[in-house]
Amino acid sequence: MAIDSSVVNGKLAIDGGAPAKTTPNIPMYPGGLSIGEEEKKLVMEVLDNKYLFRYYGPADCPSKVRELEVQWAEKMGVKYALAVNSCTSALISSLTALGVGPGSEVIVPGYTFFASCASIVGAKAIPIIAEVDKSLTLDPADVEKKITDRTKAIIAVHMRGVPCKMDELMAISKKYNVPILEDVAQACGGSYKGKRLGSFGDCNAYSLQYHKIITSGEGGIVTTNDELLYDRAQAYHDTAACWRPDRFGLPRYEGEVFPGVNFRMSELHGAVALAQLGKLDNLLAQMRHNKARIKSQITGIDGIEFRELNDADGDTAISLVLFLPDEATTRKFAPALKAEGVEAGCIFDKGVPDWHIYAHWKMIIDKVTATPEGCPYTCSYYKGPVPTYSPDMNPNTLNILGKTIHMDIPAQITDQDCDMIATAIHKVAKAYL
Ligand SMILES: Cc1ncc(COP(=O)(O)O)c(C=O)c1O
Repeated sequence: MAIDSSVVNGKLAIDGGAPAKTTPNIPMYPGGLSIGEEEKKLVMEVLDNKYLFRYYGPADCPSKVRELEVQWAEKMGVKYALAVNSCTSALISSLTALGVGPGSEVIVPGYTFFASCASIVGAKAIPIIAEVDKSLTLDPADVEKKITDRTKAIIAVHMRGVPCKMDELMAISKKYNVPILEDVAQACGGSYKGKRLGSFGDCNAYSLQYHKIITSGEGGIVTTNDELLYDRAQAYHDTAACWRPDRFGLPRYEGEVFPGVNFRMSELHGAVALAQLGKLDNLLAQMRHNKARIKSQITGIDGIEFRELNDADGDTAISLVLFLPDEATTRKFAPALKAEGVEAGCIFDKGVPDWHIYAHWKMIIDKVTATPEGCPYTCSYYKGPVPTYSPDMNPNTLNILGKTIHMDIPAQITDQDCDMIATAIHKVAKAYL
């Protein structure tokens, strides 16, 4: 499609001109907006059978949660999947399974949803916050600099749908014998060099919260290829494995069973998630089509650089990220695009709180804890110098995010929407770059 030059040359909407995009915006709930008969059918089976708990009900029924786990493991190419009630629960269960606890450090990127970092504190360990690079995922060189003999895990967050540099991170994991925990909350179904995300790490955590690619409202999944890690995550998420079929069986390995919490998934959530899993590949195909259509029309604009994708084929295509020459231009560009009818935003603004950027994680920076004793920061098992966190501790991350424009790519937008978004980007670029 050729870009309409009369629109591009028109007066900017922010200055009172006509907007380039005139169609309504579609919110970013790819799975949520696709909810239909498939979800209703499975939910109705749960209700008709009055079988709301995976381990029992009035009559024997196959568990939807169990079926979800079986199909999830198969789709993602792993041996074990464990359904839980959120990604935060999946992260904490995974960290606990990995043996992270008092005295441990865990490396996490400075650009991720706060939950990735809070889960470390939840597992009683100390977060070590690392830089991201121009893929907006962990910078492997900075990770390596931050490894100590206390590092017990690296959380590799596939941020905004893009795979981390898995080759480099796996090499670091091997070199220092530190496990990787993939946080796949924002990249369900994505891949790296042909392998699905969530199949590289020792343990991996997915989200099924409503804003994610597929959803059950709330929900999460742990995946692993290691039986002991699966058993430990299972035990932790199920108050010491107390409801699994061999609930009174003796531990089969040392460290297999210990008191835990209840992060179990309900059958209602399992039913919705199971139907959604069947839609995952179609949703990815739609978002990839949309993103490719927009990108092909804005390639080569002077002053616009695309985000590095680490593996373009594995990108889930949930977002389009553009780097502009400097912060001042970025601050003008995003509102101008918004005025053109495109849901775009700057990523980092010091004055605007955002749970995704470490500089705004006040509760980590100030080492706020649930009780006055201040664990994990004051824990006597911790033998390192307690980190000093500050908003400017990861300058590369802030520098990159300060020049970044972000747009969601909903699965449900049309080709016409994509063309109008591309036209709007040309129009604002012509005025400001
Ligand atoms: C990268 C990342 N990790 C973890 C989470 C936490 O997911 P949940 O809300 O399912 O606990 C989110 C949710 O937004 C996320 O984006």
